[in-house]
Amino acid sequence: MIKHNRLMQEAYEREERERHVVSSDPFRLSYHLMPPVGLLNDPNGFIYFQGAYHVFYQWNPFETGHGAKFWGHYRSSDLISWKEEPIALAPDEWYDKNGCYSGSAVEHDGKLYIFYTGNVKDEDGKRSSYQCLAVSEDGVTFEKKGPVIHVPAGYTAHFRDPKVWREHGVWHMVLGAQNSDLQGEAVLFRSANLTDWEFVGPIAGSGISGLGDFGYMWECPDMFKLGDKDVLIVSPQGLEPDGTLYQNLFQSGYFIGKWDSKSHKLCHGSFTELDRGFDFYAPQTTLDANGKRLMFAWMGITDAQEQDQPTVKNEWIHALTMPRELILAGGRIYQKPVEELKALRANPVEYREVSLKGDGPSKFEGIGGITAELIFSFPKGVRGTFELIIRENVRLQYDPNTQTFTLERKTFKGDGEETRQCTLEELETIHVFLDTSSIEVFLNGGTEVFTSRFFPDPDVTSIVMQSEKQEECTIQKWDLQPFALERGTDA
Ligand code: FRU
Repeated sequence: MIKHNRLMQEAYEREERERHVVSSDPFRLSYHLMPPVGLLNDPNGFIYFQGAYHVFYQWNPFETGHGAKFWGHYRSSDLISWKEEPIALAPDEWYDKNGCYSGSAVEHDGKLYIFYTGNVKDEDGKRSSYQCLAVSEDGVTFEKKGPVIHVPAGYTAHFRDPKVWREHGVWHMVLGAQNSDLQGEAVLFRSANLTDWEFVGPIAGSGISGLGDFGYMWECPDMFKLGDKDVLIVSPQGLEPDGTLYQNLFQSGYFIGKWDSKSHKLCHGSFTELDRGFDFYAPQTTLDANGKRLMFAWMGITDAQEQDQPTVKNEWIHALTMPRELILAGGRIYQKPVEELKALRANPVEYREVSLKGDGPSKFEGIGGITAELIFSFPKGVRGTFELIIRENVRLQYDPNTQTFTLERKTFKGDGEETRQCTLEELETIHVFLDTSSIEVFLNGGTEVFTSRFFPDPDVTSIVMQSEKQEECTIQKWDLQPFALERGTDA
């Protein structure tokens, strides 16, 4: 208990000590959840509980690198005004001393149950992992109950990220795993009481149900019903780049199918990446009060460029994406920014059915900015190459001849550019959310999404359009107000 208080105290002290440096950073975001100091990664325990949304996050308060993770905590009643709550979990027990790793939350008997992975490394660096439970009456202070699951035979210690849900009167838990043949899997446990768990087996994985080699480890699985289908979201590690696919070090995507409750296997189609940008990983979903499936993801990724982000010198790194709603249509998942975000809109500007000339770059009065939402609609599609150059740093381009959409950004270091792409048969709409140093692009109503951080000159606010041919386009733009963020009382 004493140790528990000490670690949390040290985190709060660091937050206090670095507050000034962190808040001086020109790239601090205005409507995205960020760590108060240090490093944030996966969203955890996302739930609607006792009339409020809770989202926890993997947090290293002590440095901008990865380490022994805490669970930080934000709460909101409307998804646009947030309160920083006291730290939910600190890595202070033998079974989680090297990190309270990712996990999820469920409500049971009016209490909040969180399941997370206790990460432990011995002196030789050998890893063990335990699936642990912690319970809270008020959703703010948690009592750790210790491990409820040990790694079963046939699996390595890469066994983590429990996501729990209730179906047919039984609790289910899906976990990310690596089997002894070093193949990634999503495995299932069941329980009647949330404490005693029975191992069922893999529901999907590399080499299972017709899937070929598909990575050496699957992280952060999430399983739920969407429409009349079963969906498994997972973040596989070890996929090789394949044309425009799998360009980041690790991917996050989904399988759609039918879960057979007898064989416990998911009979599924192919894997589709949820996001085609540079910075998207470890998404997690929950149901809101109206039965909508909402998702947050980490707007970042662990790769060799991570520490090149300029915010590091101001003692913080990474953020969560905006919350998005998932909708199933035509065998695909569409992502839509949640409706609640419309309340951040201010100062609308609209150009109805303008004719873009195709004779060089054009700027439109009032179309630009640092924190803004923009919708470009092309009622007749696009006939030639169309480009948006945002703050002299990011270029969005659609080429109808190759049916390719490209996001290009300046590299964090040096003078280069780097790109991410997807195939798109037609361009109907580009819906862009700009924050100080992030861009989220929803194409054609959210059928493809590109999420990326970018670090432009803070003084440059321009958006330049360029079209090869004459095009008809409607442009809508709003400034986005910062969301309200109340600091924690303990912080
Ligand atoms: C994904 C992940 C999880 C793990 C957590 C640790 O980004 O590696 O598998 O639980 O981050 O912070």
